[in-house]
Amino acid sequence: MRTEIATSRVETDAVVGYPEKYSIENELLEKIGREKQEARERFSDLIALVSDRYANLPEAMRQDFVAHNGEILDGVIEVGMEDEFSGEELKLLEIAAILHDMTKADQAEEKFAGIPNYVLVTHAEKAAAEVSQIVTDEYLKKIGIEGNFDEARKKIQEAISQHMGPHPGFMTGILNGVNAKLQEMGEAEIKHPQAEGKISQALLAADMQSLAGINGRNKILSIRASVEGFKKDDVKVVAEYAEYGIELSIGEAALLSGFASAEQARDMIQNEKMKAWVNQAIEESMDTIYHYPSNPKEIISWDIIRSKKDQFEEAQRIADARENLEKIAA
Ligand SMILES: [Fe+2]
Ligand SMILES: [Fe+2]
Repeated sequence: MRTEIATSRVETDAVVGYPEKYSIENELLEKIGREKQEARERFSDLIALVSDRYANLPEAMRQDFVAHNGEILDGVIEVGMEDEFSGEELKLLEIAAILHDMTKADQAEEKFAGIPNYVLVTHAEKAAAEVSQIVTDEYLKKIGIEGNFDEARKKIQEAISQHMGPHPGFMTGILNGVNAKLQEMGEAEIKHPQAEGKISQALLAADMQSLAGINGRNKILSIRASVEGFKKDDVKVVAEYAEYGIELSIGEAALLSGFASAEQARDMIQNEKMKAWVNQAIEESMDTIYHYPSNPKEIISWDIIRSKKDQFEEAQRIADARENLEKIAA
């Protein structure tokens, strides 16, 4: 939404000369900027609490996590203010954004420590469970929330526990892997609830926007380069393309999957305005040069991959049509 305001709409209006609308939108941009600053001051204690929670991480990773949380806080403020959230709703949304990934660097309980990605799959539920100890009645009172504190906490908890789903394909794969292990152990499987309600939807949109943009794509590339299962999947895609004589590298296959995840992330959002905002992040991420962290680093671009993807899909269509014709003839 931010970029939409900052570029296309403002420019168009300026050209055709609607100064009134121009100033209204500029005013909103200024308000959003102020709120981002004020939220950081208002919730500096919560922000510090979450950063401290990542103390066990290697420094670069810790900074990544902190930066992601900052990006999500900015994102929810943009979404919330564009969507005219009340002051109270905005505060609850900001708290949910600050705490949403709080437990992502935690250690799994001993019992589950052997299950790969267990913490990743359960981090939303775990963070939601801690909300009542952190966001006390006194805390809500201090930040000017009036009315039903339990209700307010519930909204924060729901938004946090619902920021996982329904989720893009790669996370479904990870969740299925964890659930298969849990089943072997006779444990209940983990479910990721749908995002419902405006606060949940706004947090989900901000998290998905972050996944759908350039940073998210880079994150996925480094995950796919380092996790064996993903690497295998990418090698399989390379082989499928080779069957049609199309030369695709493993890095290109990884980027292909990254874009597919971004599109799935976008399609999870029900609110059309928020969906358009996520889509804009995808479009902006198409013009960048990416690096696949192989040795030596591979340089990849979406334009080249897109034309290979088009060729591949065309070749598949032709092969399917031929197969159908042969069936009819037989
Ligand atoms: Fe998360
Ligand atoms: Fe997140």
